[in-house]
Amino acid sequence: MGIAVHEQTGVFHLYNEKISYIMKRMANGQMGQLYYGRRLRDREDFPHLVELAHRDMAPCTFDGDTTFSLEHLKQEYPAFGSGDMRYPAYELERENGSRISYFRYRSFEIYQGKRGLMGLPAVYTEQAEEAWTLELYLEDEVIHTGLTLVYTIFEELPVIIRSARFEHHGQEKLWLNRAMSLSLDLPDCQYEMVELTGAWCRERYVEAQKLHHGIQSIHSMRGHSSHQFNPFLALKRKETDEFQGEVIGVSLVYSGNFLGQVEVDTMNTTRLTMGIHPQGFRWPLQRGEVFQTPEAVMVYSTEGMNGMSQVYHRLYRRRLARGYWRDRERPILINNWEATYMDFNQEKILTIAKKAKELGIELFVLDDGWFGRRNDDTSSLGDWYPNLDKLPDGIAGLAENIVAMGMRFGLWFEPEMISRRSNLYEAHPEWVLGSTDRPICAGRHQYVLDFSRDEVVQYIGDMIAKILDGGLVSYIKWDMNRSISDLFSAGMDAEYQGTVYHRQILGVYKLYERLTTQFPQVLFESCASGGARFDPGILHYAPQGWASDDTDGVERIRIQYGTTYVYPVSSIGSHVSAIPNHQTHRNVPLETRAVVAYFGTFGYELDLNLLSGEEQQQVAEQIRFMKQHRAFLHSGTFYRLLSPFEGNEAAWMVVSEDRKKAIVAYFRILQPANAGFSRLKLTGLVPELDYTIDDRDYTCYGDELMQVGLILSDAASGVRTSPVPQGDYLARMFVVEAK
Ligand code: DGJ
Repeated sequence: MGIAVHEQTGVFHLYNEKISYIMKRMANGQMGQLYYGRRLRDREDFPHLVELAHRDMAPCTFDGDTTFSLEHLKQEYPAFGSGDMRYPAYELERENGSRISYFRYRSFEIYQGKRGLMGLPAVYTEQAEEAWTLELYLEDEVIHTGLTLVYTIFEELPVIIRSARFEHHGQEKLWLNRAMSLSLDLPDCQYEMVELTGAWCRERYVEAQKLHHGIQSIHSMRGHSSHQFNPFLALKRKETDEFQGEVIGVSLVYSGNFLGQVEVDTMNTTRLTMGIHPQGFRWPLQRGEVFQTPEAVMVYSTEGMNGMSQVYHRLYRRRLARGYWRDRERPILINNWEATYMDFNQEKILTIAKKAKELGIELFVLDDGWFGRRNDDTSSLGDWYPNLDKLPDGIAGLAENIVAMGMRFGLWFEPEMISRRSNLYEAHPEWVLGSTDRPICAGRHQYVLDFSRDEVVQYIGDMIAKILDGGLVSYIKWDMNRSISDLFSAGMDAEYQGTVYHRQILGVYKLYERLTTQFPQVLFESCASGGARFDPGILHYAPQGWASDDTDGVERIRIQYGTTYVYPVSSIGSHVSAIPNHQTHRNVPLETRAVVAYFGTFGYELDLNLLSGEEQQQVAEQIRFMKQHRAFLHSGTFYRLLSPFEGNEAAWMVVSEDRKKAIVAYFRILQPANAGFSRLKLTGLVPELDYTIDDRDYTCYGDELMQVGLILSDAASGVRTSPVPQGDYLARMFVVEAK
């Protein structure tokens, strides 16, 4: 692995065993993109990879040379105003109104490892040898501005991480109107674009469309990464499936507004850009100031969508998530939200907690409704002190009781929000985002605190720290329940209003950084009305996130299937809740609800006292199962086998590193009448090893399980040890182990 630099020819080649990423200084001094894909042998120059064609109508950089037009050349970080007619990676505006700029290559730096990004979450290395980083320094000598393009390649993973940094040294003032994290020019357009899209209660559904000429994009302009589109897209070949074929994934390590855009020009080339959404973004740059973009993580795989996802899982689980809980077994929790909503008191909570303890649960989480005068969602956000009518002994008293039972105690906060009916609003109406000379949109009756102001972040941090200081709270659920609509900060000059969206999210990161540093052993779970901020940025601070407010077992199959495109099982907050389900009114068997939740952090969100004795025993058994297998489920290699978006069935499995053990989950949504035969082909096993399967009295070689499959058919085969299960919303689990 390494980075080959050919200074004479201006070629930079990042490579490891699997991939090559090749760039070249072009004749005009800008950086050109030559190749991204499966590993190529290095050479001094690759002039034959540059496609130059006479196109008389194109704007030419050099008068008389019709072959050199930026309209057609593949570039690293394309500009506006120098001949490229496609969407640029950035736009800089000068005092005279010109938006033309021109960054030419000046120098480079190479180092082992990877540096952090000031104020932003980022992938990291633990040993410098894990990765190499190349920084290309470019300059626009007219405005005296520097642009650093940063590339990190990991030794063991087909990953390139990119970001850009602007540094202004000139006298005149500039405005950055667009600054994407990456731009990638690809030589053809024979791809399908895969995205994770949805809405509240149906987040991260998988969709794929064939690319067409023009623009196709995903985005958020909601101030958070959103339920609607996850900051991820992939370009895959038509024939690529879960198991084989070429795919390029791009994932943005950011939690605010974003744009992921694919432009296919009429010469059939593709430009992919991803970064902060330019809408509402305008960042002034004075002499000496720097703007750093978030980073984007590109994965190249020839092993299908599973291959791509497994790379993200490995990287994000151990080199993006961090802290005390990163590699630890996550506590099995019970959350009171769907059990009580805000209608609870200490006695009710303790009754739920007691039963939870009895059945083996390790962490009790008190959700919304414990603070201020909060009895419904119209008041008290910002008043982070206990409601003594409900909890006469306060949070400390309740927590002491729960800790004395032998469980950990966790608490819900919504730090970025404020209710109009709150003491905080009375004291600081100017802390709300929005223009005070007009009505401000409420969302869930609440307003957004202006986290672009340091004093607000500091104040909320102090209130939360006061509660955590007692040492009794060992888990925080950090919620965020509305989009940012009325973008205006009363604390910012007109000139800086275009920085507010980004500063807001920097404020969120700052508070996360402070609290995770001050309370390193507290486990943070992120949440935003379910999964509206389930993104790599937040994962850096909170190793698990509430994937969706939809707890229905069947819906969760789709939500979690899509989520695993990028995010590891260890990050997916998943609970068993009551039936009829509160979101869909569906009655999914307890077994199925648990099987789905095993492939996540696992917990319960119901009053266990309301279950029958038999069901309680089932719950105790589920908890035992999860305790036994959670380390494996959270760290093994995850494969999607059958897509719930394509039919009546779904399946996935986790395989151990040595491939000797696997746990397989199979789901069938509706019971077919007189069902036909069916088999589930496994993957990732060792062909010549003989495996036992927990529900049957015969063994199978790995090749049989992978080439023939596990026989699932409903007809009795005569060799089964138990009757074949029937019914709607069926889940089956198989523990497969080499003899
Ligand atoms: C939205 C979350 O997603 C729920 O789990 C719950 O915490 C509520 N907010 C509380 O208001």
